[in-house]
Amino acid sequence: MEREGNTEQKVLVAVTGASGTIYAERLIQELMPRVSRLYIVASETALAVIPYEMKPLRSSAYSLHSLLKKNSFKGEHAKKLAVFANNDVFAPVASGSSAPDQMVVVPCSMGTLARIRTGVSQSLIERSADVVMKEGRRLILCPRETPLSILHLENMLSMAKMGVTILPPTPAFYQQPKNMDDLINFVVGKILEAMGFHHDLYPAWNKKRC
Ligand SMILES: Cc1cc2nc3c(=O)[nH]c(=O)nc-3n(C[C@H](O)[C@H](O)[C@H](O)COP(=O)(O)O)c2cc1C
Repeated sequence: MEREGNTEQKVLVAVTGASGTIYAERLIQELMPRVSRLYIVASETALAVIPYEMKPLRSSAYSLHSLLKKNSFKGEHAKKLAVFANNDVFAPVASGSSAPDQMVVVPCSMGTLARIRTGVSQSLIERSADVVMKEGRRLILCPRETPLSILHLENMLSMAKMGVTILPPTPAFYQQPKNMDDLINFVVGKILEAMGFHHDLYPAWNKKRC
């Protein structure tokens, strides 16, 4: 695993219109000190779902919605960040020559999952995922839907067979969460682990027996 603050990685976080946009906000916060470049793209539907879902959840130091409109990070962090529109096919991440090292789609709608699986590359999110896969970089999808149809499951299986990490944003209760932050941190911690980053969002399970 990479050591915190010791990585030159370029990471793309894509936010789609599935429920759970709060995970993206928390992940972006956690990634900021860990990466050299952080790209963010939100789908058109995500831009509508974010304010709808976030309104009652306002616990974070900044808002993903305003971040997407205007870079609300300050100083060194602001320089690392680039926010692209989902129709910006001229963005660097749309090309293999400047593909991100890792891409996370969180939350990932069933629609985006299906389009990535079939290689539809009409939006920047879909094109970037296509590029990340063809360049052999790490792609992590956090699909959110319940219950799941056979179509959803087949799409996930197919992506997993292609080497994509399928990481459903499902909080666990064995860490004995005290509040919603703990539940969110559990999912974000799992994503960081899948990306190869250390974190202290929750204690490792049964550390004493390691
Ligand atoms: C409040 C809200 C919550 C939604 N939650 C989900 C969800 O959890 N999973 C999903 O696949 N679609 C969900 N949808 C539907 C997607 O937003 C819709 O399929 C959209 O076309 C996805 O577009 P995108 O993949 O480009 O973001 C939700 C829509 C709304 C308005």
